Amino acid sequence: MVTGKPFLTVEQIQSRVRELGAKLSSDYEGKNILVVGILKGAVMFFSDLTRQISVPLSMDFLIVSSYIKDSTTGNVKIHADLREDINGKNVILVEDIVDSGLTLKYLYEMLLERNPASLKICALLDKKSRRQVDLQIDYRGFEIPDEFVVGYGLDYEDKFRNLPYLAIFKKVSG
Ligand code: IMP
Ligand code: MG
Repeated sequence: MVTGKPFLTVEQIQSRVRELGAKLSSDYEGKNILVVGILKGAVMFFSDLTRQISVPLSMDFLIVSSYIKDSTTGNVKIHADLREDINGKNVILVEDIVDSGLTLKYLYEMLLERNPASLKICALLDKKSRRQVDLQIDYRGFEIPDEFVVGYGLDYEDKFRNLPYLAIFKKVSG
């Protein structure tokens, strides 16, 4: 079940996303950027965030999976790779949540080999206490406790992505 009360409300999310968009816009002033959304989880965050960025940008996507039900496997499967060549570009990787960090670490290193001019990470949520690898999150929405959350793009077994807010997911036995 999903707990009734939002863990992060629509207003809290939108206000933080506006701040992140403003920060990115000022950090990349005078530059072009390529914003890469990691699907499916980042779908909502990506579309809200990019609309808050005022510098010229292009969009691209990676479709990956790394999670079986609610436990981290550390196996990253690339279902669809980028369409764009990122050589020489300023790339921002946009992810919904960093848990163990294995997924982003893998993707970060994969993209770094393609010689972007710069490569930064922007994640809405950070479960910092769960981190297994060293990873620098350049732009972070919220640090959250070790709870399984759904909504705003995040899923449990591919459900609940369309909840407009974030909620804590709890399994009820029986
Ligand atoms: P990591 O590789 O352990 O950092 O896992 C990151 C991926 O696991 C994220 O991109 C999410 O798809 C998924 N994930 C981790 N925690 C949650 C959660 O609380 N709710 C939904 N998905 C999660
Ligand atoms: Mg994800």
